[in-house]
Amino acid sequence: MVNNIGIVENCVGIIGTGSYLPERVLTNFDLEKMVDTSDSWIKERTGISERRIASEAQTSSDLAAKAAELALMDAGLKPEEIDLIIVATVTPDYYFPSTACLVQNRLQASNAAAFDISAACSGFIYALTIAWQHIKTGYYKNALVIGADALSKIADWEDRSTCVLFGDGAGAFVLGRVEEGGIMSTKMGSDGTGARHLTCPATYFGAEELEKRNGVKKATIWMNGQEVFKFAVNIMPHAFEKALEEAGIAAEQVDWFIPHQANLRIIEASAKKFKLPMDKFIVTLQKFGNTSASSIPIAVDECIRSGKVKRGDILAMAAFGAGLTWGSAVVRL
Ligand code: ACO
Repeated sequence: MVNNIGIVENCVGIIGTGSYLPERVLTNFDLEKMVDTSDSWIKERTGISERRIASEAQTSSDLAAKAAELALMDAGLKPEEIDLIIVATVTPDYYFPSTACLVQNRLQASNAAAFDISAACSGFIYALTIAWQHIKTGYYKNALVIGADALSKIADWEDRSTCVLFGDGAGAFVLGRVEEGGIMSTKMGSDGTGARHLTCPATYFGAEELEKRNGVKKATIWMNGQEVFKFAVNIMPHAFEKALEEAGIAAEQVDWFIPHQANLRIIEASAKKFKLPMDKFIVTLQKFGNTSASSIPIAVDECIRSGKVKRGDILAMAAFGAGLTWGSAVVRL
């Protein structure tokens, strides 16, 4: 395909997927023993029943590498055929080196450039967009895009209003050139005026500064749930609409909507807005909670492997998160 300034653009598609969830299951009943909460409150207000928690020794790079290995296998590519690795994470193993470099080393992807990006739960869509542009212009041939987060490591396990929401996991796509279809559009946005509503300060602050920034003397997640909820119910349908408009696809033509898995009520609000049945929307949060940047690629991988989503299907994905940020994409598999 030649664009309007004469550059040959490639169709870029998802040529492999993989995901990894840690073994340990933390149920709502387990949480009842840790904070003043109940299974019925969590299920009613969020839809979540259980989530996976990384072991003490497991970090985001461990989860990411496992998901990436499976995605590479699925794509039938060798690690050295990967030109670019992007990890979307807000729970990196280190400030530096990047989690992506740790994954690059683990995979022995000797020809890949590697870096992380930080856009919280929208991070995977941001990473997908960056990789897509690199392949579309012919700069790279194959890229590994990974969403990996272990929010359990930065959760405040004494704060019932946040600790019940999150889980750990990783999901990965291999992107490469395809004959037709592939990524049709992506859209991204941010609203830093809402930055204060969802925070986790850097660990180098002293207790006093942490308290000033976060309300508690800890470098843990703090959230104004109601403000984030208001943002989410408005931005999720908007994000879907923007990517669909760009792709020239009507909501009715979409086979599967894959929303960020934060809260069932937020997903239901999108279904209502589009006047579409909930069975068009993929929901995994009951098993995994909100796994941040990994929630969308985990959902896509699960659905492909179970046979629910098939080649040729049109997928619409939309995420929102800290920043505040949002991102969306339309892809024909
Ligand atoms: N168990 C029992 N009671 C609870 C719990 C709990 N786990 N958490 C809060 N409550 C209580 C509150 O204290 C409050 O009690 P009060 O009325 O006596 O003051 C009551 O329940 C209602 O609290 P709300 O905050 O109004 O509850 P709400 O219905 O808004 O649900 C929730 C809270 C689930 C956090 C919701 O606001 C939400 O989903 N927000 C969006 C979160 C989100 O999507 N984050 C995504 C981004 S994550 C990222 O980017 C890393």
